[in-house]
Amino acid sequence: MSTPSGKHLAAIVPQHGGPLAVVERTTPTCGPNQLLIEVHAVAFNPVDCYQRDMGFFIEEYPAVIGSDIAGIVVQTGSGISLKTLTIGTRVTALASSFYHKGNPDHGAMQKYVLVGEDTVAILPDSFSFVEGCVFPLAALTVWNGWLWAGVAREPISPAEKKGVLVWGASSSMGALAVQGAKNMGYTVYATASSQHHEYIKTLGAARVFDYKAEDVASEILNAAKEDGITIRIAYHATGAQQVSADIISKLAAGDQGKLAIAPIVDKSLNLPENVDSAFVQAPDQPEAREERLHWIFGTWLQEGLAANQLVASPRIKIIEGGLESANKALDELKAGVSCTKLVIEI
Ligand SMILES: NC(=O)c1ccc[n+]([C@@H]2O[C@H](COP(=O)([O-])OP(=O)(O)OC[C@H]3O[C@@H](n4cnc5c(N)ncnc54)[C@H](OP(=O)(O)O)[C@@H]3O)[C@@H](O)[C@H]2O)c1
Repeated sequence: MSTPSGKHLAAIVPQHGGPLAVVERTTPTCGPNQLLIEVHAVAFNPVDCYQRDMGFFIEEYPAVIGSDIAGIVVQTGSGISLKTLTIGTRVTALASSFYHKGNPDHGAMQKYVLVGEDTVAILPDSFSFVEGCVFPLAALTVWNGWLWAGVAREPISPAEKKGVLVWGASSSMGALAVQGAKNMGYTVYATASSQHHEYIKTLGAARVFDYKAEDVASEILNAAKEDGITIRIAYHATGAQQVSADIISKLAAGDQGKLAIAPIVDKSLNLPENVDSAFVQAPDQPEAREERLHWIFGTWLQEGLAANQLVASPRIKIIEGGLESANKALDELKAGVSCTKLVIEI
């Protein structure tokens, strides 16, 4: 850990459409309930590409984008309620440019960043910073979906034989969705390309199906019957929304199914009558949102990391070169990744 000297390096978006440029900027100081983090690793997400290239949710330039970091607390603001978050604490945190409309003090891609205390989890020494930075946006996105769909916050008994389906489980959101549901005692069925099936099983999936197989629907239905598992809930991380909607409809036959959708919902999605669906997002109501963030970061993620119940997923690929390579990482992500999380160390 070093002491902030007043200036630090940041990969900024100088103007609409990018590209990123690495410049020195003034290091901010904490407001109430904020922490200043010395960033050691940043993970990339599709929304970063939309922000750099299309100005998605950016209100002012220069902007600093990105969401996922791991690092060390170097300053604490007033009113921090979690007394364990002191200077020197290793953390993983959501440093969300998206929620701050591109405000440069809050985006992930820089050496020092401000984060709210409610989107921070302590990172045990058993996780490197590179491993730690992959969790925040995925944890938020996964649980915004699972909680909407009715997945329990407390583990259920596996004897209940309740299951969930994760569509696109080799994606970043899908891989953590598998871990989250397994954590809570659900039997997890998942889909991914066949080369990732064994890996997805290591994350906790009971069965993994090839989403490209023509008979994937009947394979899933037959397996649920054979295993005696009731599946009413699906998490659509990525892929063909109509296919996952139709499958959860059949799995829930005679009952109501729930489909949480992480990507923008397809306008052409023809939702079966017995399926409710929702785009995955935080509650609108501020108190409900705050309570949820506290649970996701302060309880589920922090306790899961401390107990070694979670692993960094999907597989990590480090793009060498630090902040100077952030453009390269975003270009690689845009071209498409397969069961891979792109990360830089800074
Ligand atoms: N709502 C929110 O707040 C929120 C937050 C974060 C992300 N998102 C959205 O969630 C989506 C997933 O993001 P991510 O970062 O997890 O994606 P990602 O890791 O970049 O996704 C890559 C994966 O997609 C899989 N894939 C591609 N085509 C597929 C298909 N037809 N069926 C099933 N899987 C397929 C690939 O699987 P194989 O290699 O196995 O083929 C690959 O592993 C994106 O649309 C993102 O914008 C939403």
